[in-house]
Amino acid sequence: MGDKREEGLSALLHETRTFPPTDEMVKRANAGPGIYDEANADPLAFWASQAEYLTWDTPWTETLEWNPPFAKWFVGGKLNVAVNCVDRHVEAGLGARVAFHWEGEPGDTRTITYDDLLKSVCQAANGLTELGVRAGDKVAIYMPMIPETVVAMLACARLGAPHTVVFGGFSSDALRGRILDCDAHFVITADGGYRRGVASPLKAAVDEAVAECPDVEKVLVVQRTGQEVDWSEGRDVWWHDMVSRQPEHHEAEAFDAEHPLYIMYTSGTTAQPKGILHTSGGYLTHVAATHRLIFDIKPEEDVFWTAADIGWVTGHSYIVYGPLANCTTSVMYEGTPDTPARDRWWQIIEKYKVNILYTAPTTIRTFMKWGEDLPAAHDLSSLRLLGSVGEPINPEAWIWYRTHIGREQCPIVDTWWQTETGGILITPLPGITATKPGAAMTPFPGISVDIIDNEGNSVGNDEGGYLVITQPWPGMLRGIWGDDERYKETYWSRFPGKYFAGDGAKRDQDGDIWLLGRVDDVMNISGHRISTTEIEHALVSHPAVAEAAVVGASDATTGQAIVAFVTVKGAGTEGAPDGEEFVAELRDHVAHEIGPIAKPRQIMLTPELPKTRSGKIMRRLLRDVAEHRDLGDVTTLLDPSVVNAIKVRMSDGAEDKE
Ligand code: WT7
Repeated sequence: MGDKREEGLSALLHETRTFPPTDEMVKRANAGPGIYDEANADPLAFWASQAEYLTWDTPWTETLEWNPPFAKWFVGGKLNVAVNCVDRHVEAGLGARVAFHWEGEPGDTRTITYDDLLKSVCQAANGLTELGVRAGDKVAIYMPMIPETVVAMLACARLGAPHTVVFGGFSSDALRGRILDCDAHFVITADGGYRRGVASPLKAAVDEAVAECPDVEKVLVVQRTGQEVDWSEGRDVWWHDMVSRQPEHHEAEAFDAEHPLYIMYTSGTTAQPKGILHTSGGYLTHVAATHRLIFDIKPEEDVFWTAADIGWVTGHSYIVYGPLANCTTSVMYEGTPDTPARDRWWQIIEKYKVNILYTAPTTIRTFMKWGEDLPAAHDLSSLRLLGSVGEPINPEAWIWYRTHIGREQCPIVDTWWQTETGGILITPLPGITATKPGAAMTPFPGISVDIIDNEGNSVGNDEGGYLVITQPWPGMLRGIWGDDERYKETYWSRFPGKYFAGDGAKRDQDGDIWLLGRVDDVMNISGHRISTTEIEHALVSHPAVAEAAVVGASDATTGQAIVAFVTVKGAGTEGAPDGEEFVAELRDHVAHEIGPIAKPRQIMLTPELPKTRSGKIMRRLLRDVAEHRDLGDVTTLLDPSVVNAIKVRMSDGAEDKE
């Protein structure tokens, strides 16, 4: 397996196939050929010209104020993000345009026009005001993929109340940690949401979380599934009682360009997730510009679909803020691709005549496994552009996507970015870039990146190194909530003056950029970022566990998979927990602590972990074991026999697979 991976990697870096844009794309693309030169000549002027697409109540006086590593964009400018996403389109006479074709998992649908959205957002803003929400208050949102989630976010933005959306698949513990970290006094949730035909108990998780959050004043609850919920009189409020009776008009206030818009928690190399702070004017400029130019959006005719959850940054930037700022019609789907059948996505594309699809490589690989007959049975001829995000896309998946979904015609944009970057930074541009399967290609206009070695020197073509961003950009994080030191330390200290992304990268012989995966203890499971340390922490919090080491092993479908090595207290002695049942208990424990996405694929119980003489766990060796590779140098180990014992156990099949 190890050898195969190396082969794959070297093949990937010698990719010679290129796919130039079609004549039609060249003719119609929003991004014209001069865009790179224009942006290179004066990046700040380029970004200022992009900011002009927004509607400002007060114009900015300075495009960028840069006190490294703290940036202020569009200084002195004032705007309201929700007005930019909704009101101004209605005022321009576009109120009848559909904002969302929403599709519930059980098959119920809703069509929401910009007129509808404006009314709902105004009502929600009035409702939140009645509950006591004021500018600057933090609001936690823990919701399924329903229209009210977008409405709740926009209502917060309208009031200048930063939201923190917590993915509905996270546990009550994870939700509580986030509520406490950002000091949210308000929570918006639903009774439940549908996933794989089952109504998940969201309200119950909120009750559990909030039981230990004494400062939470109100919980606003949308009725989605109609399931039984516990009710806390005085604290809990039904959305349909309180929001629906509000006036449909709300006077919006303009906020400073640097007013906080949202906090999104993401995993890093420590056990505690980081609250990534995004602000208003620069962020909206960045997501609107990238959305318009990379996805080549023609809002008057296109149907756009980012098939991701709003609980992740992809949903924030390319379901909510970017598309709405551009007055786009989007599809929003509540459930999973296999419910009720494995062709659900292709049905949706056929039904709404989707033109642009944006999804993750892990999903594409799943579709590959399910076979091309499923998409072939549907009319996908409306598609004209495909996007990929979340992890490196392997050339096979890229070609499959192009062939079986894109009729060998659709350009593919492989977009690299992070929660921290706010929007896309490295990507081809349709109509300009000749793409290569597996490469993210080129920095977006106005973005400066480099690939450097340990000493901070630029490496040559065909040499791997660390990806850094060398100039500030408008959508960049403004900090880690409440922890400026951690912000400096995490992103700006390894290479002073440069933003360290945590990814390895390489330029090929043509100078095109390939992403090579994380270089830190962060795993990428199905395009979701998960920290090894966080899972180790969760495992050790189980009373029977003495020590745990977690690694990401390569996985054909999910990119990486979580493999944990665990020693229990009193290992080897009589009565020490062992066996399949105990392993299952540990996996459930992790799901309970963090969420089902963090469940290890395998847990190996082992009497000892391989350690260096100084006591450091040798994760590199464990990764080799997990990927069935030959073990390299083990001479620095305190006891080399430990790792061999683990290896033998592993190949004996003493492992737990789902
Ligand atoms: C990490 C960021 C950005 C939205 C989804 C994930 C990896 C993301 C690509 C890509 C190779 C990619 C990186 C990055 N990543 N897009 N196109 N090619 N790798 O956001 O959870 O903040 O994770 O995802 O490793 O650092 P996130």
